[in-house]
Amino acid sequence: MTATMLAVQDFSLYYGQFKALDRIAVEIPARQVTAIIGPSGCGKSTFLRTFNRMNDLIPAVRTEGKVWLDGANIFDMDVVALRRQVGMVFQRPNPFPKSIFDNVAYGPRMNGLRDKAKLGEIVERSLRDAALWDEVKDDLGKSGMALSGGQQQRLCIARALAVAPEVILMDEPASALDPIATLRIEDLIRELRQKYTIVIVTHNMQQAARVSDYTAFFYTDESRTGILVEFDKTKKIFTNPEDKRTEDYITGRFG
Ligand SMILES: Nc1ncnc2c1ncn2[C@@H]1O[C@H](COP(=O)(O)OP(=O)(O)OP(=O)(O)O)[C@@H](O)[C@H]1O
Ligand SMILES: [Mg+2]
Repeated sequence: MTATMLAVQDFSLYYGQFKALDRIAVEIPARQVTAIIGPSGCGKSTFLRTFNRMNDLIPAVRTEGKVWLDGANIFDMDVVALRRQVGMVFQRPNPFPKSIFDNVAYGPRMNGLRDKAKLGEIVERSLRDAALWDEVKDDLGKSGMALSGGQQQRLCIARALAVAPEVILMDEPASALDPIATLRIEDLIRELRQKYTIVIVTHNMQQAARVSDYTAFFYTDESRTGILVEFDKTKKIFTNPEDKRTEDYITGRFG
């Protein structure tokens, strides 16, 4: 039995009058990789942004239903505390115009940590966990912007890891990278699941099949409202899905 990290109950989201997500229910298992797949516009990013309440920044957004993080209602939580537990990595690597060290130390410093030795330990551990340490350990003062795209994305992952989150959200984290850098990120995601719960949006079916333990298939029809069609072990979704729409999507018949 796998424990649940994120439990979503009867969750709907509106952008003004437009209903973007309709009554989503799913339990995201702890310390596993869950992939979110589905055609463009079906609400994958919207759904992902729900977990660290990034949608709060959009004024017209309204939600119904509940989302629990390890038993706590995320909408009752202090949003800063929530984002400490639920980190995010974006499609385009977005290092700060600061040194590698300062990029990774950013979160812990924001949380009030000043102790140089402790910061150094956290920076090293986070860079090791992000599989970047060996490439940068002799040059931590170099600008994060001076790294390659793939290294920048691993730096952003290290920055997310530095505050010891429970969950890491990734929205197409490898789509701006070349195939080699993409494979490194995929390997890294497989490693990270030993310590973290990962939720990843991807357009790449092979990637979902390679990196994830569970897959959620979202879909939308003419109404443009996103629904969760099917959630199951990735193996099951890709070999023997229950729903015809899932099968059509994974076999490339649409989307
Ligand atoms: N800030 C916003 N205001 C209004 N509507 C929005 C906003 N963001 C997204 N939407 C709409 O919500 C729906 C879902 O968008 P979302 O970006 O979540 O889809 P997606 O599945 O991530 O698509 P893609 O695969 O293209 O990234 C779309 O119809 C989109 O136009
Ligand atoms: Mg998206």
